Amino acid sequence: MSDEGSPEGLPARLLTDLKRAASALMRARSVDVITHIDADGITAGAIAAETLRRLGKTYTLTFEKKITEETVDKVNRDPSDYVWICDLGSAYMGQFTRSGIVVTDHHVPDTKWRSGQSMLDAFSASYQLNPHLYGASGSYEVSGAGMTYLLSRAIDPKNVDLAYLAVIGAIGDFQDSRESRLVGWNRVILQDAVDCGDMEVSYGIRFFGRGTRPLVQFLQYGEPAIPGLASDADACYNLLAACQVPANNPDGTRRTWCDLDPVECAMLTDELVSRARNDEDRAALLGELYTVKRYDFKTGLGDAKEFATTLNSCGRYDDADTGAKICLGDLDALKEAENNRKDHRKNISVALAFVRDNHLLRRRNYVQYFDAGSAIRETVVGIVAGMILSSSEAAPDMPIIAFAEADDGIKVSARAPKSLVDAGMDLSKLMSEAAAAVGGMGGGHNVAAGATIPVGKKEVFLDKLEELIAGLSS
Ligand code: C5P
Ligand code: ZN
Repeated sequence: MSDEGSPEGLPARLLTDLKRAASALMRARSVDVITHIDADGITAGAIAAETLRRLGKTYTLTFEKKITEETVDKVNRDPSDYVWICDLGSAYMGQFTRSGIVVTDHHVPDTKWRSGQSMLDAFSASYQLNPHLYGASGSYEVSGAGMTYLLSRAIDPKNVDLAYLAVIGAIGDFQDSRESRLVGWNRVILQDAVDCGDMEVSYGIRFFGRGTRPLVQFLQYGEPAIPGLASDADACYNLLAACQVPANNPDGTRRTWCDLDPVECAMLTDELVSRARNDEDRAALLGELYTVKRYDFKTGLGDAKEFATTLNSCGRYDDADTGAKICLGDLDALKEAENNRKDHRKNISVALAFVRDNHLLRRRNYVQYFDAGSAIRETVVGIVAGMILSSSEAAPDMPIIAFAEADDGIKVSARAPKSLVDAGMDLSKLMSEAAAAVGGMGGGHNVAAGATIPVGKKEVFLDKLEELIAGLSS
């Protein structure tokens, strides 16, 4: 974190800007909220909508996959006093020609707006709250939901009870992956969630699904993969038997990691840590776990990572509304989400098998890529790319690029290994430049980014991308 503006370590300039944007929203009569469809966007939208509801404002909440020319147009023509854009918008700041805009985002911002060349700078009534403008990282220090929450808290300190949603948003964007714990401004937000009794932080095995996955699957599919256990159900059963840990409850239902007693948990943790491939894997395996205290683990909302996955399983399948309802405590929506969750699980495993069975992963000099055609939804191809990158079949030292057909062209998703990001690779810049070279548009974060390019331009796009990467290392 940069300067010591608050006792918590948030920069003074950020606090001033938050206050200004807060009083603008408090003066507005009507506010339309536009947010992204992923877990970070849904939690951001829920925080914004709930904040406005508490203020008694007239408001709407809508979801977008990305900002397009039509969205920019819609925003510019929106009749409300303010449009509050969450987890999106920063890259398009220069294209908004109306006043009355609040953006709470963490994607790489439009540089023209930052350097004061756009029309919008003339309007004091537009605000962009983005960590990049304050020297903080939008990849791992704060998310779109985090920025939205900081504004909500500036509007009314009572809104601290929404902090846990911002933590879930950050985790949905993998902001805890880098250090196996939340860092930076996320730490401040986490502290709020803990202080108001909504979250608990513990330390342990960070495999996915501690609240709902049966033990064998938890061990079998956990990342980073443990040699001898990965994808081998029998070996996982044997480990449980050797540690005298029953796989089932007395009533025959499967046990989960959260069902273990402390002795069982310690024994299995030791086994996993000692079997991990190397220190890097051990660092990823062990770390902080975030519990959402108001929900039982069995609901799939008790663990923050599982909560985020539930939201993704809604948003990425055109049902973000259900995700937002869950965030606002509507448990009937949870029943609906159960079907979404099952579909999401199935889609992801079918998609992974599709890439593997058809040997779609190809390597070029600087990138590895696969083309999913119409077999994988454009909204989940990035998740699949990320999973393949962290599996043993991918080269660990190259970014992965995935293509999928979309309504408006070819969707590109890109993910980079941490080692390359640490060495200076910025996928957001690469996607934006390579896409622009073929008449497309892209952006995102250094570690995860995307683009849409015209049909028929995949090869040229890859050529351009490799040329840009080659230029980085020379
Ligand atoms: O869709 P995917 O999960 O691959 O997106 C990765 C990141 O890149 C997201 O943060 C998304 O908002 C961003 N992105 C973007 N412009 C695009 C596509 C994705 O900024 N055209
Ligand atoms: Zn986000």
